Amino acid sequence: MENLGISMFEIYKNKRVFITGNTGFKGSWLCAFLQHLNVHVEGYALPPATQPNHFELLKGQYKTSFANILDKERLNAAIKNAKPDIIFHLAAQALVRPSYTDPVNTYETNVIGTLNVLEAARQCDSVQAIVLITTDKVYENKEWQKPYTETDELGGYDMYSSSKACCEILIRSYRNSFFNLKEYGSGHHVLIASARAGNVIGGGDWSADRLLPDIAIAASLHKKVLIRNPKSVRPWQHVLDCIFGYLLLGAKLLKGEKAFAEAWNFSPNSAETKNVEAIADIAKQSWPAIDIEFAKLNNEVHEAGLLILDNTKALTLLGWKPGWDTHTAVEKTITWYKEFYNTGALQTGQQIIDYLKIINA
Ligand SMILES: NC(=O)c1ccc[n+]([C@@H]2O[C@H](COP(=O)([O-])OP(=O)(O)OC[C@H]3O[C@@H](n4cnc5c(N)ncnc54)[C@H](O)[C@@H]3O)[C@@H](O)[C@H]2O)c1
Repeated sequence: MENLGISMFEIYKNKRVFITGNTGFKGSWLCAFLQHLNVHVEGYALPPATQPNHFELLKGQYKTSFANILDKERLNAAIKNAKPDIIFHLAAQALVRPSYTDPVNTYETNVIGTLNVLEAARQCDSVQAIVLITTDKVYENKEWQKPYTETDELGGYDMYSSSKACCEILIRSYRNSFFNLKEYGSGHHVLIASARAGNVIGGGDWSADRLLPDIAIAASLHKKVLIRNPKSVRPWQHVLDCIFGYLLLGAKLLKGEKAFAEAWNFSPNSAETKNVEAIADIAKQSWPAIDIEFAKLNNEVHEAGLLILDNTKALTLLGWKPGWDTHTAVEKTITWYKEFYNTGALQTGQQIIDYLKIINA
């Protein structure tokens, strides 16, 4: 990979970054990455939902407002006080299964939460760029082999996916109504983009119903783990690849490059796509204590069988490229958990350093 990183990191050097959802899996990695580069960050999220959690383990030295994204006054005040140049919006009810048990909270958090962030940003003069994180699941899943491109139909079978598709429509509408590209530089100075990524893996995720955390937790307890849907194909991607994509996109927006104020897919190359069984096999090679049984359970909620994204746009226009292939991403993830459970050590900093070497930054 060419020297993708260096110019991007220069752009963030003296910028102020506001991150919603920084107590969660991806947000905590994004903060760790930016803090490693000495960038000023502030966070806004609910307190960590799990024990242990990556956010607390990292002991990040930056301000976090522990508040609900639905609390407009708190959110507006936090953004105004932070005076950010850029906002990364990651806060969400991010899981499919709870979206069946609490669809209202899922929609409020995801859709109204996104609306609140956009409104708060609109009222804050310092903001120049917003990167809003949705998901690969925003596409109407036709269960076909063809990878989905950014212009494909939006949809979403379950409440989580459809709430995120709604976010995409909301973002588009804000871009048309308030952050219109034709008026950029004269009527306003904000560029907004959305980022759609697939199944993201990495250490420090303790959310329920995620494959590698479930496998790692069971291994730490010397237990067998029951895994659903072994043939489900997913575009597995290391969290650092995903975050690097978000940062590259944010850098383009901060530079005022209007063409980038759009939706972007970030996913592994389609040849990399693997099913659950293959991922579990790689995990076992990295930590022999892992013991897996595959199951087809009854009363399962609907789960999409196949969903692959086309990453051509990010590869060709943004200059983004996955730094770690799927095999390496799984190894890095399982090694993170193995070290954590066996020694208590955190691999986060070392993996960021390793990743920066790969992307040549
Ligand atoms: N992890 C994945 O594989 C994946 C895949 C596609 C998209 N995403 C998206 O990426 C983003 C981050 O996902 P994650 O895996 O880190 O999720 P996560 O569940 O680990 O973290 C969610 C974050 O949102 C915050 N949050 C939730 N409800 C909130 C509320 N009402 N008010 C304020 N904060 C609230 C939580 O406190 C936490 O900080 C989400 O938008 C998610 O939909 C994740």
